[in-house]
Amino acid sequence: MRIAVIGATGKAGKLIVQEAVNRSHEVTAISRRPHPNTPAQHTLVKNVTDLTTTDFKAIDVVISALGSQQIVELTTHLGQILSGTDTRLVVIGGTGTLYTTPARTERLVDSPNFPAEYRKYAEAHAAASASLRGITGLKWTAISPAANFLPDAPARHDYEFAGDVFTVGASGISEISYADYASALVDEVENTTGTHIGEQISVRNR
Ligand SMILES: NC(=O)c1ccc[n+]([C@@H]2O[C@H](COP(=O)([O-])OP(=O)(O)OC[C@H]3O[C@@H](n4cnc5c(N)ncnc54)[C@H](OP(=O)(O)O)[C@@H]3O)[C@@H](O)[C@H]2O)c1
Repeated sequence: MRIAVIGATGKAGKLIVQEAVNRSHEVTAISRRPHPNTPAQHTLVKNVTDLTTTDFKAIDVVISALGSQQIVELTTHLGQILSGTDTRLVVIGGTGTLYTTPARTERLVDSPNFPAEYRKYAEAHAAASASLRGITGLKWTAISPAANFLPDAPARHDYEFAGDVFTVGASGISEISYADYASALVDEVENTTGTHIGEQISVRNR
């Protein structure tokens, strides 16, 4: 597949680029500054705000691994330029966007015990997902990582997907390494059944 990774210089983005290249995909690494050591076959140096529909006309899937205080505006821009095209948008979501119970009456970020220091980021991710949901003709998927999203932990290769309701693993903990998340995200990119188009899903270690 022809895959573009935005945020290719970031911690998650780098691992996603490597994972996609390892699986023989044709990868374009997109970043604001030159990134000469990327394993991607192609590079594009652009701020997200300057990306247009034309930049993605030969791309099957755009992955957004953005981390930014402007995540809502930047994600919305990506959704708008990809709406009405066949190019799928897969974004890293936030854990706080997930619902606390299957009744779906409360999101994790709105629950009383949600850590105050993460609320701002969680609300931004929730707003970014809501924005994508509202864009007509967009093939989007948001993948929330587990609550403990571990940048330097090794891959365990024992992750599983869940839906938009928060779940924990067998040990009662919600965690996943960035390495396992990158692998899971590329699994989902390769899932061309369309089952998760227009959905918020999640992934964590078993
Ligand atoms: N449990 C959770 O919900 C949880 C926990 C942790 C992280 N996260 C989310 O995971 C995602 C990835 O995190 P990370 O640790 O990999 O982030 P990171 O290392 O800070 O990387 C962020 C990337 O976004 C790029 N970027 C920011 N603004 C941009 C713009 N305007 N145009 C182009 N690129 C831009 C940065 O590029 P530059 O190199 O140019 O700055 C960088 O490549 C984030 O969205 C974060 O919020 C979720």
